[in-house]
Amino acid sequence: MTSEFNRRLEFSRRRALKLFGASAVTGLAMVSSTRAIAHPTFLRYPFRLGIASGDPSPDGFVIWTRLAPDPFAEDYGMPMQAVEVGYQVAEDRGFQTIVRQGTALARPELGHSVHVELSGLNPGREYFYRFNAGDERTYRGRAMTTPAPGAPVASLKFAVAGCQNYEEGYYTAYRHLANENPDFVYCYGDYIYEYRDAPVRPWQGPVASVRQHHGNEIYSIGDYRRRYAQYKMDIDLQRAHAAAPWLVVWDDHEIDNNWVSHIDEAGTDSRYFRLRQQMAMQAYYEHMPLRMASLPVGAQMQIHRRVQWGNLADINLLDTRQYRTDQPCDDRYGSTCDAVGDRQADVLGRQQLSWLMDNMRGSKANWQVIAQQIMMMDLDRRPEEPGVQVNTDSWAGYRVPRRELLDRIASSGLDSTIVLTGDEHQHFAGELYRDGQQMDDAPIATEFVATSISSGGDGFDIRNDMVPIRDANAQLKYVNSQRGYLICEVTPEAWTSHHRVVDRISTPGGSVSTAASFRVERGRPGLIPA
Ligand SMILES: [Fe+2]
Repeated sequence: MTSEFNRRLEFSRRRALKLFGASAVTGLAMVSSTRAIAHPTFLRYPFRLGIASGDPSPDGFVIWTRLAPDPFAEDYGMPMQAVEVGYQVAEDRGFQTIVRQGTALARPELGHSVHVELSGLNPGREYFYRFNAGDERTYRGRAMTTPAPGAPVASLKFAVAGCQNYEEGYYTAYRHLANENPDFVYCYGDYIYEYRDAPVRPWQGPVASVRQHHGNEIYSIGDYRRRYAQYKMDIDLQRAHAAAPWLVVWDDHEIDNNWVSHIDEAGTDSRYFRLRQQMAMQAYYEHMPLRMASLPVGAQMQIHRRVQWGNLADINLLDTRQYRTDQPCDDRYGSTCDAVGDRQADVLGRQQLSWLMDNMRGSKANWQVIAQQIMMMDLDRRPEEPGVQVNTDSWAGYRVPRRELLDRIASSGLDSTIVLTGDEHQHFAGELYRDGQQMDDAPIATEFVATSISSGGDGFDIRNDMVPIRDANAQLKYVNSQRGYLICEVTPEAWTSHHRVVDRISTPGGSVSTAASFRVERGRPGLIPA
């Protein structure tokens, strides 16, 4: 059987070389006569975009890779045929005890990405995985299954990260994050930025980009694929993926700045914007360790989902872009208008809100986590001006749905709710009130905003413009304007968040430190310096 298989492969190889000539075969020197190529020989290393795992469950997780030997080439160095990719999952980092192995197809329809959904594994433990294709093999990644449903869990440690504009700095923060050995990474989005390359940033004065995007503003599936490829070739980002499973959601820049529903920043006819969304969503799926349930259908993609960590924490991953009504006040940051109080406005959409409330009300976990994108504190962003001027692209621009959510959390007795946020490119810690300018009662929930990995450049302790905002908003307990990530350490009794910062990202090798830590006691929303 084996020799017959080899004879057929050898025949296929000769036939391919005869048909195309060795030089005409870009990424592969061997082509099978069958639809899928079983044993390719690559002219360049095909796993240059790394590996990832994600969406853990009690009995499995997704493992991901993508074959792209020549990532910026039109065909990224691959033939337009499916290619077999092998995978192994082991209990030990030396792969002595392999518990799963098999073959998956890297399909041209999905940019030769591979998403393997593993099941039947044991709950609450670490696993290791790797891929191979032809004679090439990846390095090893670490994944985790979640604890068994309802199982008592003594502790959880995870990271919160995102907003990684490639042009604005090195991913040093990811190198440090990987060394923290988290149980998982929650990535709140802005995994890529859609902008063209910016040789100089006019608003920053004479400051050149640290690195430059390949190409222009991205529109086509090929553009988006090349952008993900450029980001994913960063070795520090690869380290962070190899260190732990990721729970990913998008924010805006995976498609277009400040998009909601089928509305883009420029006000393009939504029939055209949907086509761009379709491309961007496909590329997002292709490059993320997502389950088949998130495969896009047209310009729709379901990314809200829940991950449960035994009886310790229920993590609700939300989508605050796809079902949201248009931003009020022409989306002018730091403004206000009647539309902020629009009763028809929506952030999550009725279906996602019902799903979230059903999850939270039915939860038996010690902590209910709302892992989402945009700030929920209703900060006054221009305290020097009369009235409350809000970030119109945050929950503060949507007063009615914001209050509805907080009212429901309060009336349901969900007194251990933690909101995790990104988007702002600064660290914030604060308390959530129905009306943050009144603060009449006790806080309803606690919010931690993780700063960016690179967006915003080196940064400093606190931006000048943030000092009056911090001083005028009592709900806001902490601000820092450096780059970094959040580490959350959770026990049944207490939640502790550490705001990690790196001292510089404009050159490699920056060091990490903890700028501040805060504790929340279970059943008592609000921050205690730790
Ligand atoms: Fe961002």
